[in-house]
This record gives sequence, structure tokens and C-alpha cells, in this order.
Amino acid sequence: MLVKIFFWALILRLGLSASDDFTYNGFKDVNLSLDGLAGITSDGLLKLTNATRHAMGHAMFPSPLRFKKSQADNVLSFSTTFVFAIIPEYQTLGSAGFTFVLSPSKVLTKASTDYLLGIINITNNGNASNHILAVEFDTWDSPQAEDINDNHVGIDINNIISNYSTPAGFTSDDDGKFQNLTLLSGEPMQVWIEYNGTSMQFKVTLAPLWKPKAKVALLSPTINLSSIVLDHMYVGFSASVGALYSYHYILGWSFNIDGQAPELNLSSLPPLPQNLTSLEKKRKTLLLWLPLTLFLVLLTVAGATLTVVRRKKFSELHDDWELEFESNRFPYEQLYKATRGFKEKYLLGIGGFGRVYRGVLPASKVEVAVKRVSHESKEGVREFVAEIVSLGKLRHRNLVQFLGYCRSKGELLLVYEYMPNGSLDKFLFSETKQTLDWSLRFKIIKGVASGLQYLHDGWDQVVIHRDIKASNVLLDGDMNGRLGDFGLARLYDHGAAPHTTNVVGTLGFLAPELARTCKITTSSDVFAFGAFLLEVACGRRALEPNKQESEQVLVEWVFANWKMGNLYETKDPRLGKDYVLEELDLVLKLGLFCSHPLPSARPSMRQITQFLNGDVPLPEMLPYQCHAGGIFQFRNESS
Ligand SMILES: *[C@@H]1O[C@H](CO)[C@@H](O)[C@H](O)[C@H]1NC(C)=O
Ligand SMILES: *[C@@H]1O[C@H](CO)[C@@H](O)[C@H](O)[C@H]1NC(C)=O
Ligand SMILES: *[C@@H]1O[C@H](CO)[C@@H](O)[C@H](O)[C@H]1NC(C)=O
Ligand SMILES: *[C@@H]1O[C@H](CO)[C@@H](O)[C@H](O)[C@H]1NC(C)=O
Ligand SMILES: *[C@@H]1O[C@H](CO)[C@@H](O)[C@H](O)[C@H]1NC(C)=O
Ligand SMILES: *[C@@H]1O[C@H](CO)[C@@H](O)[C@H](O)[C@H]1NC(C)=O
Ligand SMILES: *[C@@H]1O[C@H](CO)[C@@H](O)[C@H](O)[C@H]1NC(C)=O
Ligand SMILES: *[C@@H]1O[C@H](CO)[C@@H](O)[C@H](O)[C@H]1NC(C)=O
Ligand SMILES: *[C@@H]1O[C@H](CO)[C@@H](O)[C@H](O)[C@H]1NC(C)=O
Ligand SMILES: *[C@@H]1O[C@H](CO)[C@@H](O)[C@H](O)[C@H]1NC(C)=O
Repeated sequence: MLVKIFFWALILRLGLSASDDFTYNGFKDVNLSLDGLAGITSDGLLKLTNATRHAMGHAMFPSPLRFKKSQADNVLSFSTTFVFAIIPEYQTLGSAGFTFVLSPSKVLTKASTDYLLGIINITNNGNASNHILAVEFDTWDSPQAEDINDNHVGIDINNIISNYSTPAGFTSDDDGKFQNLTLLSGEPMQVWIEYNGTSMQFKVTLAPLWKPKAKVALLSPTINLSSIVLDHMYVGFSASVGALYSYHYILGWSFNIDGQAPELNLSSLPPLPQNLTSLEKKRKTLLLWLPLTLFLVLLTVAGATLTVVRRKKFSELHDDWELEFESNRFPYEQLYKATRGFKEKYLLGIGGFGRVYRGVLPASKVEVAVKRVSHESKEGVREFVAEIVSLGKLRHRNLVQFLGYCRSKGELLLVYEYMPNGSLDKFLFSETKQTLDWSLRFKIIKGVASGLQYLHDGWDQVVIHRDIKASNVLLDGDMNGRLGDFGLARLYDHGAAPHTTNVVGTLGFLAPELARTCKITTSSDVFAFGAFLLEVACGRRALEPNKQESEQVLVEWVFANWKMGNLYETKDPRLGKDYVLEELDLVLKLGLFCSHPLPSARPSMRQITQFLNGDVPLPEMLPYQCHAGGIFQFRNESS
């Protein structure tokens, strides 16, 4: 018996010691466990993500490694080094990031994308039973993850909120000065991660490729990993992207337990795709310009003249205060070219705030929507730009992503992600367009509710949309409903004289209390959301002045029908028999609930999403005679 145990112990030791140290200078023919967007290119690059949005990729060493000696609780020392490069869609905008991760499972497909980095999801975030240890290289400043900035390295323990984080960079051995590194520069960088099982020091060091490891680590906390790391864990990488994408590449990787990770042979790493690296671009421009220097000198005078002419044509405004928003600014020339000079042909529509054009950014070929918002007064522009840029950091799969802005004479240009399927009202109210089936409508409703809930609750600051309606709901390529124009209504507040408050919004969606108080709250958004629900279910606009009086206001008409026992007859006739009765019932009644005349009686967006997801049943409602207090009431539990 003893011999047998010894024999097995020997086999186990041999089996493990054969695989707890590995070196990959490139990943050609390497057996990794890949999922999501991850793949190995023909050059041998490990590509974790590609040009897909809201997605993730994982690459894990295929067998588990042993991190604890038998019977001992303390975690063994381990050490790893790897070279990575991140190439973003836009030069200055990241998307999420990647991590080096230790996980009890090699399958992380249940984790979520975007700021959750493909290691954790909303339900298990922060749960000690995750046993997730990750070092994140994060290129997006996410409020949910409480990120410190959009270019940092962090250590995450079971939680997407980093336990330790610091701006990316390294301390130079020469002069002891800290030098910043831009993770998404597209330039390859090397990372060393070392854990000393005795001193429990966890060190993360970063350096540009070919620079030796600095003596001072970027992060070096002492962490007792014994309750976090299990006996056997998988090691590997995860990467995720959001509304914007980035390519996340790993060029080489080595790993060792109870010893130092073997050095990588940097000269045998696979090359990055040439046309993607900014490095190459810079070099090319340099080579091109060098022989032209003389020529350029001669042309300087002519050049100056040209600039004046160009300035006139691309009359862009640029004030000192905008320096802090530099990374969110688009050159006017670029937007002018993208929309072919704002040609009518590229006009997508005319909204309350101005004209919207479709464009294709000249360099990246990315499709965008450019909104031209006229803004005569200079006053308030600064606050507005600050606000729109800060709102642009909000990211949610049901919000239209803001990409940047540009200021020109008398107008602001706002650049958004392009939504190929246009706005929802076209589908609902147009006779010519094919109508939407019920399942799509319900999906869109749930999406918009989730986006609005995020605006209300998802950030440290409550964001009120102020103009919820079908025409402000856009449809992406997968027909998901996305809220647009959030925060835009503020423009009019900032622009207006200080002592008047303009109520911006759309008739039919304006909550009754706004007539009295002008105080915009989340409940006024909920009121408008109620009208929106009815629009989607009934296929009618919230206000139809051409109809006879009793039918003009959608909410009143649906309510009257309910009192008469004809609630379901208000549904969009174009749906025919295609609907789910319980869902239709929920949407119509919830629409009325949200439209309650008393703001305090309306549900919160949080409750609304719970009702829509079926987590909580809608309280039973009884229509009753309309009088001063309200148009309907809920049955009390006591009655
Ligand atoms: C990204 O990778 C996935 C999985 O390898 C593939 O299905 C998809 O087509 C790729 N997308 C792009 C835009 O390259
Ligand atoms: C890759 O590794 C896994 C786990 O060790 C193994 O099951 C699989 O057969 C390997 N695949 C190849 C192609 O070697
Ligand atoms: C979150 O992740 C855990 C662990 O991987 C998984 O069990 C759970 O189903 C996931 N939850 C969701 C909502 O995907
Ligand atoms: C943590 O996860 C475990 C296993 O998935 C689960 O049983 C437990 O309820 C979770 N704890 C919390 C606080 O969510
Ligand atoms: C890491 O941070 C989470 C909260 O963000 C905390 O619950 C946990 O105790 C921390 N773990 C360590 C080892 O510091
Ligand atoms: C490095 O980045 C920080 C912000 O992350 C900034 O405050 C600092 O000025 C930068 N330093 C240099 C030398 O660029
Ligand atoms: C780990 O820490 C111990 C105690 O501080 C030290 O003696 C040892 O040399 C360290 N090991 C390594 C590999 O640095
Ligand atoms: C580390 O944590 C484990 C359990 O969480 C504990 O038993 C052990 O004493 C700790 N080690 C040190 C050195 O504090
Ligand atoms: C590193 O790689 C280069 C190119 O593949 C090769 O010539 C060289 O011998 C390698 N060096 C070592 C130490 O393996
Ligand atoms: C880079 O080159 C490859 C092949 O040469 C091509 O398929 C790809 O579209 C190019 N990418 C860009 C962004 O130009």
C-alpha cells in the first residue's frame, strides 16, 4: 500500500515537474486552451481579441499547475514574464484591457466582457469563492471598476475593483525617475510577475521591450495568497473589449513554479502585424520626410499661406481650456472628410438638437455618426464639453457610445458610434418599413430599461436622460436598443440665462409635475419611459394631435381602454397574433404604472428592470375612477 502511494506520488511529481516550467518565444504549434476571440496567428502571435466589440478571449495553459506543496498551506513561489502589445481602434482610446490570470477553471466563458475583463461577472464579483487572482493591464477608466485612470496596472483578487493599482510605467534604474508608459501605444512591452512564497511579496514590473527589468517594481504589495490560490490552478490570459475594440497580443511567455521564469529570447518573438503598428507608421513617416526637409524649408512660406486658407475652410475653434480634452477632440478636417463635407447624401436625420450625418473616418475607416449641434453663445460651452466628455466615459451595451467632439464656429460636432439600423420610431410608426416582431420589441424594451437604469444608478453621479422616446432609441447591428442623446438636453441649460430653467423634452413624454416645478428628476425619466413602453406595445406615438380628442394622448387612451376592460385591444394591430400575452400585459400595465401622475408613486428604474426580467411580479393594479389623487391605485396587501 505504502509503496503504491509512493509510486503515485512519484508519477504525480514527475508529471507536474514536467509542465510547471515552460517558455514560448512565439506560440506557433503551442497547445493552449483558447476560447472566445482568442487565436494563434500564422506568425505565431497569440491574439486575444480582434475587431469584434463587446467580446472577450482567453488563452490558458491546458493543464493545471500545482501551487501548494502537499499538506502545506502556503503558496509556492512563482514567476512569469511575457511580452504584450495593445493596438487600439482609435489611437488614444482604449476599450477595456487584458489580464494575466490564475483561475481554478480553465473555462472562463461565464465571465463578462467590457470592464469585467473576461475574468468575472456581475453575479460573482467580489465573491471569495471565485479564487481568481489577476494582474490587469487596463486601458479604460471605468467607474464601475473604480479605476484610477485609463492606463493602469492593477492586482485584482476575486473582484474587478483592484486591490492595488498604479499608473503604467517604470522607475528608471539610471536616475530613479518614474517614466510613464502608454499601454495602448501599440509598442510591445515586457512584464515580470513574481511571487515569493516566503516573504509573500507580489511584484509586478513593466518595461518597454528590450529594456531590462527595473530594480524597483511597479507594484510590490505583500499578499497572503494562501486562501486565494488553491492547490491546483490554471494560468493564462484573458482580454476583453467594449464598444470600441483593441487588438490584444501576447508575443512570448514563460512561467515557472518555485524558481525564476526562464528568460525569453526577444529576438525570436514573432513580429506584430506591420500595417497596424504605430511604431512602423512613425518610422515610415520619418523616412519619407527626411529627404524632403530641404524642399519643406522652401515651402514653409507657401505652407503658412496654405494653413491660413485651410483654417478658413476648416474653421475650427480651439481654446486653452480644451487641452484637457485633447484626447477626445477630433480635428475638424477629419470629420469634414468623413462626411464628404457634410453632404446631404450622408444626412441620417434631423433631430431636436441638429443634423446627424453618417461618416467614415478617413484613417481607420470606422463608421461614425456626427451630430452638428448649433451653439451660438460661447457661454457654457466649456461646462458642456466637460460634461459630455465625462458622460462619454459611461459605457453600457444599451447606450450609444460617445467617441469625441470638435468645436467649430457656432456649432459643436459630437461623434458617436454609428448605429446601422437607425432609430426605433422608424420601425414602429412607418407604414413602409417592415414592423418588428414581439420578441424583438420586448428585447429592445429590456435593453433600454437596463441602459436607463445604468444612467440612474450605475455611476457615482445620477444621470438623467430627459428625453426618452422611441426616436431617441437607436438599433445596433444586432437590433439591440441603445439610448442616444443622453446628457444633451443639458446643453440648453448651460446655454440659457442663469435664472431661467428651460424644460427640455418632448410633449407627450413630459411628466405633469414639470409644469409646476420644472424640477427634473429620475421620476420624470420614468414617466417618459412609461410613454415609451406604450409606444412600443401600441405602435402609436405618445401624442397624436390629429386624432380625435379622446385618442390624442396615448397614456390616457390606453388607460381608458383598460377601464373598459379592453386593455389588450390597444396593442399594435400590426403584431397580429404574434405576441406573448403575459409580456404584453406586463408592458402595458408597467407603462401605465410609470405614467402615474404622482412622481412618488412611480417605480424606480431598478424596480422596472426587475419587473421586466420577471424577478419580481408587478403589483396587482386596479383601474379606478380618475380623480385628483391619481388615475389608478394599487391594491393594498391588507385589503
Ligand atoms: C474574431 O475572431 C473570431 C474567433 O476567432 C472570429 O469568429 C471573428 O470572425 C473574428 N472577427 C473579426 C472582425 O476578425
Ligand atoms: C493539448 O493539451 C490538452 C491537455 O493537456 C490535451 O488533452 C490535448 O490532447 C492537447 N492537444 C494537442 C493537440 O496536443
Ligand atoms: C458568473 O460566473 C460564475 C462562475 O464562472 C458562473 O457560475 C455564473 O453562472 C455566472 N453568472 C452569470 C450570470 O453568467
Ligand atoms: C459566492 O459563490 C458561491 C458559489 O458560487 C455561492 O454559493 C454564494 O452564495 C456566493 N456568495 C455571495 C455573497 O454571493
Ligand atoms: C481585495 O479587495 C476586496 C474589495 O475590493 C476585499 O474584499 C478583499 O479583502 C481584498 N483582498 C485582499 C487580499 O486585500
Ligand atoms: C505621467 O502620467 C501622469 C498621469 O497618469 C501625469 O500626471 C504625469 O504628468 C505624466 N508624467 C510624464 C512625465 O509624462
Ligand atoms: C523570498 O523572500 C525570502 C525572505 O525575505 C528571501 O530570503 C528569499 O531570498 C526570497 N526569494 C527569492 C527567490 O527572492
Ligand atoms: C496566511 O493565511 C492563512 C489562512 O488564511 C493563515 O493560516 C496563515 O497563517 C497566513 N500566513 C501568514 C504568514 O500570515
Ligand atoms: C534567439 O533567437 C535567435 C533568432 O531566432 C537565435 O539566432 C539565437 O540563437 C537565440 N538565442 C538563444 C540564446 O537561444
Ligand atoms: C493589414 O494587412 C492585412 C494583410 O496584409 C489585411 O488583411 C488587413 O486588412 C490590414 N489591416 C489594416 C488595418 O490595414
